[in-house]
Amino acid sequence: MYVFGKVLGFKIKCMDQNLLTMNDMMTLPYVQRMEVLFFKLFLAKPKLVVRSPGRVNIIGEHTDYNDGFVLPASINMYAYVAVDKSRDGKIHLYSSEYKQQFVTDKSNVGCKLNSWTDYVLGIVDQLKKNGHDIGGFNLLLGGNLPIGAGMSSSAAVECAVIFALNELFHLKLEKIDMVKLAQKAEHHFTGVQCGIMDMFASMFGKKGQVIKLDCRSLEYEYVPFDLKGIKIVLFNTNVKHSLAATAYNERRQQCERGVAWVKESFPEVNSLRDVSMDMLQENVATRDALIYQRCKYVVDENLRLLQACEDLENGDVKALGKKMFQTHEGLSKEYEVSCKELDFLVNSVKDNPDVLGARMMGGGFGGCTINLVREEAIPVLAERLKKEYFNALGLTLTVYTGQIENGTEKIIL
Ligand code: GLA
Repeated sequence: MYVFGKVLGFKIKCMDQNLLTMNDMMTLPYVQRMEVLFFKLFLAKPKLVVRSPGRVNIIGEHTDYNDGFVLPASINMYAYVAVDKSRDGKIHLYSSEYKQQFVTDKSNVGCKLNSWTDYVLGIVDQLKKNGHDIGGFNLLLGGNLPIGAGMSSSAAVECAVIFALNELFHLKLEKIDMVKLAQKAEHHFTGVQCGIMDMFASMFGKKGQVIKLDCRSLEYEYVPFDLKGIKIVLFNTNVKHSLAATAYNERRQQCERGVAWVKESFPEVNSLRDVSMDMLQENVATRDALIYQRCKYVVDENLRLLQACEDLENGDVKALGKKMFQTHEGLSKEYEVSCKELDFLVNSVKDNPDVLGARMMGGGFGGCTINLVREEAIPVLAERLKKEYFNALGLTLTVYTGQIENGTEKIIL
């Protein structure tokens, strides 16, 4: 019944499908399914089940690692983690998505395997590096958050794992410490020098609210997101272009280069957050047109976000939506992190009166667009776009309606 494989000397077991596809199990609420599956795998009830959501970001893209602002929220799609201490002191992992089991020793968690296990062991590695002595554990990972769709499934997994281990081993970590460790794990294991937005949104999300986060001070406030009759709709391109990680790190370096040039004349400047358009004109535009273009987008986007927060407070969805389209334009033409699939989806809704705002979301080069759509228009729009997207690009479009929910939380036991 088991198929065995070997990855870098570790044993990976692929379980028989029967374990997972029983009809009765599929009708159970997700958390109970986790409990049942955990019992089947580890012959005991889990000590606790934690869920951690994916995120959307209304506006403020590629601003987090520039010390700027972001406006994310956690949504109703989750990574689930069920855990308990193991009897043999080893780490036993199982992914219901990949139907793979993995066993390793505590002392063996530092090396990257390019597998889903990295997101779990990356956290263990960070905990160890920060002096937290944790024992062996059994962990089941599941969820309904699409992987690679730009909703930060990796951050959700990392937050769920660290939250669960914090409880299980009484580590007494604050939420913000868990967020910072999760970010470090992502840096170390994926090689993407990401900002803090994804983990922060997953951990700190609050039902019905977006988070206005200052990525420099890490001060934040919740802003009610209550747009009557308007829903957040995500259109998933179902593509993830392979240059994403390299291009992301390259953008980050370009921004740092711009800051260094401004700093020569203004030593007090430490990030693009401190930079004005005049400073950019004088110190960057004269030296390198491309670096100027990248930095200009970020400076503009920060200002746009602050104005967008005022729009939200005034309930002015039209003004907010217009800024989302402007953000897309900047990301596509100046920051150059969009792709033809994302541009197609934004262009297709641009003149549609039922769509108040739309833009690519997250790092770019694939994933989702985020749209503000009149509720009653969603079904027809979704069907039309699915057809147009398939006809134009030969690809399937997936549609999600996002509801803003609480961040990482313990669900049972
Ligand atoms: C990815 C990163 C975030 C952020 C966005 C772009 O999602 O993980 O830190 O930089 O891209 O805004």
